[in-house]
Amino acid sequence: MLSFRRHKREDISYRVAWLNNRAAALYVYGTVDHLTTEAEQTAWFDQYEKEATAGLKKFFTIMAENKPIGFMGLFKIDPIKRSAKIFILIGDEEYRGQGLGREALQHLIQVAKTELDLKTLYLEVHKKNLPAIKLYRRLGFKSLDKPVGDEMRMTYSWPG
Ligand SMILES: CC(C)(COP(=O)(O)OP(=O)(O)OC[C@H]1O[C@@H](n2cnc3c(N)ncnc32)[C@H](O)[C@@H]1OP(=O)(O)O)[C@@H](O)C(=O)NCCC(=O)NCCS
Repeated sequence: MLSFRRHKREDISYRVAWLNNRAAALYVYGTVDHLTTEAEQTAWFDQYEKEATAGLKKFFTIMAENKPIGFMGLFKIDPIKRSAKIFILIGDEEYRGQGLGREALQHLIQVAKTELDLKTLYLEVHKKNLPAIKLYRRLGFKSLDKPVGDEMRMTYSWPG
């Protein structure tokens, strides 16, 4: 059973560890050679706080029994188009493949609807990232077109 809390500055060291996981780095940065640092993630968080205050980003820390295991969020929130891009990372590898990504993303989709009244979510995913592609498809995301380079674009609209 998961819970979700506001993404906080104290999560920076978790972000460094999670993003430096090989599988995550491959799909997030497109290479396993990019190692992120406390400084890079602190800069990310500085920017995040500004954008969150402006209503452009909304991120959560994913908690399993009070242990932070990953993060997810909405970014490029556009109140005119009522759309946002999404991202999810179960950073702690031992927690992957147990349906937690699905549970977390269902929560994020609900937040996007009930708190932000969005109409469309979209994302880009590496065409070889099968767990992510299966997860998005299972929750109703549709592929937009052929991959652009290594990235597949997917979109979600609420029924009705
Ligand atoms: C993508 C990610 C969030 C999925 O979360 P998860 O908790 O591992 O996924 P779930 O257990 O909820 O499973 C989701 C689907 O993927 C499948 N799956 C899980 N692990 C898999 C694996 N190693 N290989 C193939 N399929 C896999 C599951 O069977 C399920 O599909 P189904 O509903 O058709 O049965 C997680 O693997 C992750 O954080 N990966 C690294 C970061 C990343 O790639 N983020 C996405 C960037 S776009």
